[in-house]
Amino acid sequence: MSPETGNADRRARITAVDAWEVLDSRGDPTVRVAIEAGDARGVFTVPAGASTGTHEAVERRDGGERYGGRGVRGAVESVREELAPIVIDRDAAAQERIDRALVECDGTGDLSRLGSNAVLGVSGAVAHAAAAALDRPLHTHLASLAGSSPDHNPERLPMPIVNVLSGGLHARGGIEIQDFLVVPIGAASYPEALHTAWQVRRATREEILAAGHRPLVADEGGFAPPLDSIAAAFSLLGDAAREAGFEVGVDIGFAVDVAATHFYDAERNEYAFESLDRTLDRDGMIDLVTEWASEYPLVSIEDPLAEDDWRGWERLAVALPDETALLGDDLLASNPDRLEQAIDTGAVSAVLVKPNQAGTITRTIEVFGAAQAADLPTVVSARSGETSDRTIADLAVGLDTEYIKIGSLARSERLAKYNRLLEIDRASDSLGFAGPLADEGR
Ligand code: PGA
Ligand code: ZN
Repeated sequence: MSPETGNADRRARITAVDAWEVLDSRGDPTVRVAIEAGDARGVFTVPAGASTGTHEAVERRDGGERYGGRGVRGAVESVREELAPIVIDRDAAAQERIDRALVECDGTGDLSRLGSNAVLGVSGAVAHAAAAALDRPLHTHLASLAGSSPDHNPERLPMPIVNVLSGGLHARGGIEIQDFLVVPIGAASYPEALHTAWQVRRATREEILAAGHRPLVADEGGFAPPLDSIAAAFSLLGDAAREAGFEVGVDIGFAVDVAATHFYDAERNEYAFESLDRTLDRDGMIDLVTEWASEYPLVSIEDPLAEDDWRGWERLAVALPDETALLGDDLLASNPDRLEQAIDTGAVSAVLVKPNQAGTITRTIEVFGAAQAADLPTVVSARSGETSDRTIADLAVGLDTEYIKIGSLARSERLAKYNRLLEIDRASDSLGFAGPLADEGR
């Protein structure tokens, strides 16, 4: 060991671990972990989904009456009693070794014994503590973990995919499709992309007001006006984009997250669009989605079929035009084995990753690495339940993802991450930008 490495090790030696319960953007409990390493401290707060997939790492909730069963005291105890003793005295920079020990301690694979919220809480705080102790920005530290070289430097900022209209489990009672999003494909820089998306969102708000509705927002800050068809949602977005002075398909692309598993009725084997008084079988969904791709400039379609309908996904991947990515979220659940199956069968053409589906920082890095090795564009994504934690902004830059999906340009838990990317942009004069049309440049 060189003297330099020895110093680095000592600089990042973990001396204390603490965890406690805080509330997230929906007011639900979640786990916050703080780790001291050397003279530094790293804090990470775990996010939580509403439209969670069956194949995600399993978060632990207390059940019972407190917080309607959603308390996380058990997960907090797991951190304090079982995980803290494992990481104390280790070098926080040894993320992979630490994560392996955390996963082994849990012993279940899906992290259900201690809770993925306990395990990811520690894993994330370790990364923050190491970056702080080594006096590096988090994205630089994550880049070096992913590149396995201490001086692997980030290269570019991601293209934001911005939620404008919300439905599904995030807006209860609206249209079943969870997100209608805009992608500022014509923007030349991250700040310009943000401004473009802001203008479209603002014009959407004006349209909603002009139609006599209140501009109320859903869990991720997207608007949830009454909509009587899917076409009405696309046409609202298109009108707003034109109103803001943009050309649809040139300056602005669209994206949707169907989150189809949540209105798929497994017994009847059909998709129930209650709000539209309509049901569709798999073929009907494939036709519907293919029709959208031919009518609208769709950059990506996420989860248009149920999370275990591998055959349907394979068929849809073939049916969609090259310009429209078939993006796997619940299908893949940031799980390396499911991603491998999807790569082998061609079931997706782009990969969405959420660190709390994976359960550790190392598994998150592995999933990105596997997707990138297969030449599939990647999206790092927030959850619908978030806090001011900004880690995914650093992940996007550090792991060189093409896209980032955070929610809308509203609510401070969303803006914390958008603003972190502005901060990273400000601090560097050498970072590029993943847009426009990132996948064409690959
Ligand atoms: P969730 O939604 O966090 O509620 O799962 C986000 C998504 O489906 O992409
Ligand atoms: Zn999704």
